[in-house]
Amino acid sequence: MGDVVITFEDVWYRYSKRGDWVLRGINLSIERGDFVLVIGCSGSGKTTLLRCLTGLIPHFYGGELRGKITVCGLDVSTSDIAEVTSKVAAVFQDPEAQILMLITEDELAYPLENLGLPPSVIVERVEWVAKLLGLEGIRYRRTFELSGGEKQRVVLATALVQLPEILVLDEPSTWLDPLTSKKLINEVVRIHHEHGITVVIAEHRLELVMPHSSKVIVLHNGKVLYFGDVGSALEGDYLLKANVGDPYIVRLWKYLGRIGKVPLNPDDFAKEVVKCILEKL
Ligand SMILES: Nc1ncnc2c1ncn2[C@@H]1O[C@H](COP(=O)(O)OP(=O)(O)OP(=O)(O)O)[C@@H](O)[C@H]1O
Ligand SMILES: [Mg+2]
Repeated sequence: MGDVVITFEDVWYRYSKRGDWVLRGINLSIERGDFVLVIGCSGSGKTTLLRCLTGLIPHFYGGELRGKITVCGLDVSTSDIAEVTSKVAAVFQDPEAQILMLITEDELAYPLENLGLPPSVIVERVEWVAKLLGLEGIRYRRTFELSGGEKQRVVLATALVQLPEILVLDEPSTWLDPLTSKKLINEVVRIHHEHGITVVIAEHRLELVMPHSSKVIVLHNGKVLYFGDVGSALEGDYLLKANVGDPYIVRLWKYLGRIGKVPLNPDDFAKEVVKCILEKL
């Protein structure tokens, strides 16, 4: 067993005391260096699960939390939220709400200033992250003038500049065009490999993230329907049961899985499908 960085022990959560339970008996353990894809249909609880990792639940959203969530050795319910966010950086769906500073450059630098790092390190890290995410052209722009996609890249940069132990991303492809989403995912994969950052990402465009994922969590009605490696998730009925992905593609994946070839990469997938069709002619 590797070094476990996230555990959920029989976690139940609802946003208000009288509301329905949104997370219902979640048990998980994620190891350092894992790249975890969280999938499930709309309303299944993906964003809620990610909010638990950052301490926003329960510290910001309140509600009722039962069970125990541990992140990098910290009990999320009883720890100071600042302590949790020093280990976990997150990018949620609404970029506007996450930008605090007037100028992009200051937005990138302020988390490091908060950590009290020396100015030379701050300059170096800001340069690094600006280059990494192609922000050189907007470093001195006013943040309220940026486009939605630019704002999200700034929010991601602000998360990465702290070199967190865990990076949490909530549906990055919903705020970017297909090409930019692909580039961004590739950057995240590179940073994950180079810096050993554990990644937990909710994404409905399975083909973008699945080839890079070491584990997948399939959520359905607030429960974990499946947690494990990607190949077995595709071979089982989990995706169909959870209404995730295009049902035709999911069926083809399953069929290909049955004959021992689960192509995770879209190009290999297309090749296998063509091969199967040719063999049937
Ligand atoms: N701030 C909130 N207050 C009350 N209920 C909420 C809040 N946020 C989410 N919920 C409810 O919790 C349930 C799970 O929502 P969540 O946002 O976690 O789902 P999701 O899987 O991320 O969906 P999507 O794919 O649409 O983003 C839904 O029924 C939703 O209405
Ligand atoms: Mg969501």
